[in-house]
Amino acid sequence: MERTFVMIKPDGVKRGLVGRILQRYEQKGLRLVKARLMEVSRELAEKHYGEHRSKPFFHELIDYITSGPVFAMVLEGNKAISIVRLLNGATKVEDALPGTIRGDFAVSTTENLVHGSDSAASAEREISLWFPDDSTSSLSASDCL
Ligand SMILES: Nc1ncnc2c1ncn2[C@@H]1O[C@H](COP(=O)(O)OP(=O)(O)OP(=O)(O)O)[C@@H](O)[C@H]1O
Ligand SMILES: [Mg+2]
Repeated sequence: MERTFVMIKPDGVKRGLVGRILQRYEQKGLRLVKARLMEVSRELAEKHYGEHRSKPFFHELIDYITSGPVFAMVLEGNKAISIVRLLNGATKVEDALPGTIRGDFAVSTTENLVHGSDSAASAEREISLWFPDDSTSSLSASDCL
């Protein structure tokens, strides 16, 4: 069993797509083990996307991720990390295939609805960054709003 950090980004929450996106992960057999609807501080966003600090799109990315609440979660299942990346679809809007979340719903490369950890090391780092209190129970929706 593998665990991965997944986030429905502010455009997904604003557009009312949380239920439909979560359903795709669940119907593939992934289990929701933690979830939180939360505002994201610039500090947390910059830590999360630290590897992109030198990229030209970094500031736009941080503005976007902090523009409204996100739905942060931990999903568990066999090969969860790569399966979530497959369901999410390609990063670039023009490469995201129909049938994937981005391919079906996203309208730009920046505003691409979902995040999924890209490796076991990233998953471990991101889960402890977003859910630092390991005693957090399965679902604590909107307690950070
Ligand atoms: N060329 C770009 N122009 C604008 N925004 C970009 C570009 N490349 C990436 N981004 C934004 O930065 C995020 C992080 O980029 P990364 O290369 O890690 O893609 P990803 O792993 O598919 O996405 P994520 O890490 O959010 O799951 C992307 O999801 C997207 O929102
Ligand atoms: Mg990434």
